[in-house]
Amino acid sequence: MIRGSRCEVPPSPWIKEINGQLWAEEVPFSSLAERYGTPLYVYSALAIRTAFQSISQALEGIPHFVAYAVKANGNPTILRLLAGLGAWADTVSGGELFWAHRAGIPADHTLMSGVGKTEKEIEFALRLGIRSLNIESVEELEVVQSVASSLGCQARVGVRLNPHIDPHTHPYIATGIHGTKFGLEIEEAREALKQISKSPILTLECIASHIGSQITELDAIEESAFLTSLFFEEAIKEGHTPHVLDLGGGWPLAYGDEESSVPSHQAFGQAIRRGIEKSGWLERAQKHKGLFLVVEPGRAIVGEGGALLTRVLFVKRSPSKRFVIVDAAMTELIRPALYGAYHAVVPVINPARPPLDKADIVGPVCETGDFFALNRPFPEVKRGELLILRSTGAYGAAMSSEYNGRPKAAEVMADGSKAHLIRPRGKWEDLHVDPAWPFLASE
Ligand code: LLP
Repeated sequence: MIRGSRCEVPPSPWIKEINGQLWAEEVPFSSLAERYGTPLYVYSALAIRTAFQSISQALEGIPHFVAYAVKANGNPTILRLLAGLGAWADTVSGGELFWAHRAGIPADHTLMSGVGKTEKEIEFALRLGIRSLNIESVEELEVVQSVASSLGCQARVGVRLNPHIDPHTHPYIATGIHGTKFGLEIEEAREALKQISKSPILTLECIASHIGSQITELDAIEESAFLTSLFFEEAIKEGHTPHVLDLGGGWPLAYGDEESSVPSHQAFGQAIRRGIEKSGWLERAQKHKGLFLVVEPGRAIVGEGGALLTRVLFVKRSPSKRFVIVDAAMTELIRPALYGAYHAVVPVINPARPPLDKADIVGPVCETGDFFALNRPFPEVKRGELLILRSTGAYGAAMSSEYNGRPKAAEVMADGSKAHLIRPRGKWEDLHVDPAWPFLASE
């Protein structure tokens, strides 16, 4: 366990303390900071591989594929690493489809969801020939049909169900309750099935759902697996021949502040199994070749395997507060500001030192919401020291911005004793390209 911040953080397969300092696999974080500067995203190839394999093992005995949710982290090297492990891709935009395609993930192993796909995106997906365009409204179905007919091709589609299950996660990432914009309520989903039946162009390939992210209540995912697979059975009775049961993502990650223990991959996989057994889907899939389950984890594959390395710029003591001001900000990691999310913050040198008193750990951006931790018991740290923010591989760099004129952070991948630059640091000049020049120049 790494102590020294608010609570204990689960041990990591890749962050180790050796001679009083933290290492990323077999490379000291301090040498990465020297070589690449800070703020710096550091990933571990080992941790990502291990997480991917552990999720797949949790579904052993069920015909399945693991489709990585590209939105969690679309870094091209991470995508290539996962492609090499046989990952499928879950995408939500033309951009993500393009990245997955470039990383070598076959179109037949790629799915696409999203409530607002443009015609351009639909056309790109159809041209690539992806496995399933998961539609989220009846109107979208009509557009897919018309784009496919103008291209003169067939379209394999999925119907994303909104099963009305509360996953008891942060409300911003709960996506399977009626009243959220995602998926189709059961009556609309039935209507979609009818429309697909009537169309000579559309084929139902997939029944899908995704009820939310960071699901720690197993009953919720079991119920979702049950209802979604029951709807799959209904589609078959209506004469469709879908092959893919897509249960979305939501596999949770222990960040270290949870009140009770976070379900293991094994337990999450077992909950899915119970749901698809109860509906009879598992038995059907085991009997008939060609039916399979797809899961779409993002956070659970890359979350733990990433850390944001940052340097203390200043320590400011006011009568009421100690501020630790670091060179990373909400621009690199918005999760604390957006969801009040917890990330362990640990000094790189002498990480186990005891807390001194409470501190706010904040970035340089001009927003009071620009914080990583508020009132957190934290050790004494000095200007120039390095800290890591743990479990930031998912929805960290992917949600970063260039607000306040801050170029994007560099990213490196540790792999054993080597580290590779996998995204160069952004540059000031790239943030200020002026395509209208010399317009106004003579005024
Ligand atoms: N499939 C679909 C259709 C999704 O919308 C998502 C995530 C996933 C899979 C992957 O979910 P995961 O396994 O990573 O939980 N920015 C938020 C998370 C937003 C998730 C959006 N959809 C955060 O930082 O917590």
